[in-house]
Amino acid sequence: MSLRGEREPESPEVPRPAPREWSPDIDVPALALHEARVWIVDLDAGLAPGEDAEAAEPGAELAILSADERARAARFVRARDRRRFARCRAALREILGRLLGEPAEALRFRAAAQGKPELDHPPGGDPRADRLRLRFNVSHSSELALIAVCRGRELGVDLERVRPILEANRIVASFFTAAEQAEFAAIPAADQDLAFHRGWTRKEAVLKAFGMGLSGLSAQHQTGFGSTELTPQFTPARPVHRVDPWLLWEAAPRPGFVAALAVHAGEADDSLPAPLIKP
Ligand SMILES: CC(C)(COP(=O)(O)OP(=O)(O)OC[C@H]1O[C@@H](n2cnc3c(N)ncnc32)[C@H](O)[C@@H]1OP(=O)(O)O)[C@@H](O)C(=O)NCCC(=O)NCCS
Repeated sequence: MSLRGEREPESPEVPRPAPREWSPDIDVPALALHEARVWIVDLDAGLAPGEDAEAAEPGAELAILSADERARAARFVRARDRRRFARCRAALREILGRLLGEPAEALRFRAAAQGKPELDHPPGGDPRADRLRLRFNVSHSSELALIAVCRGRELGVDLERVRPILEANRIVASFFTAAEQAEFAAIPAADQDLAFHRGWTRKEAVLKAFGMGLSGLSAQHQTGFGSTELTPQFTPARPVHRVDPWLLWEAAPRPGFVAALAVHAGEADDSLPAPLIKP
């Protein structure tokens, strides 16, 4: 683990990621190399007037999903969750498809070693092809999703709706460093729900960037809880913006939600998984 302090200059090569509201009829401008962008997807948008958000089934989105994705959508017990899953996956396909200049329904995904989804590409294909350089990560919570994309750098994103977590103290004791535990204990009780979710999304964004998911949860990556004010724009996490090889930003994309984004800080060639850049 390497931690660097507040004074470290931000990487000049990774501009602050810009959040954008997703709508199917919106333009998706090309991404510059190393540029990260986060699409905010309202998973309950697109309902007809008076339509019940709990009961409405997925609609046109299903047409661009793969058979596997449609089957996965169908496995959700509640109509609301079927629709939200389909809308999120359709938005991901639309965004990546437009960035690649390929039909959304033609995209194929695969899972990296620990389950992180990435774009599939033909074996033996050009390892520097756009399809491979285009990295993405998705997070959803309640009616909101974030789709983070970057050209040439790996990344991870996490979103949480802030709510009381009864197990917060136990989770902090298990998966946060001694310094973080002391920091959390000093936070007034009234502020702990927000602080916990900030700490949690920071850690999960890093774990998702590594591609580990929750199985990688440990007190290894010191991300802290953060006390600076959150804004809808992503701002560098403070006091530590860099955690291991990742630059960490956080935001409140909507009132009541917190999000963190980890983007690889290194040179482009270091930022993509080695087996992919050297097949
Ligand atoms: C991936 C994981 C971190 C997601 O956490 P979460 O807070 O529930 O969900 P989020 O909304 O933030 O992220 C979900 C998205 O992360 C992405 N994702 C899945 N596996 C991932 C991985 N290993 N690394 C990074 N991203 C991953 C997917 O795009 C997923 O979207 P989808 O559900 O629409 O397919 C978590 O489910 C996990 O660790 N899974 C692997 C281990 C596992 O399944 N354990 C069983 C439960 S303990």
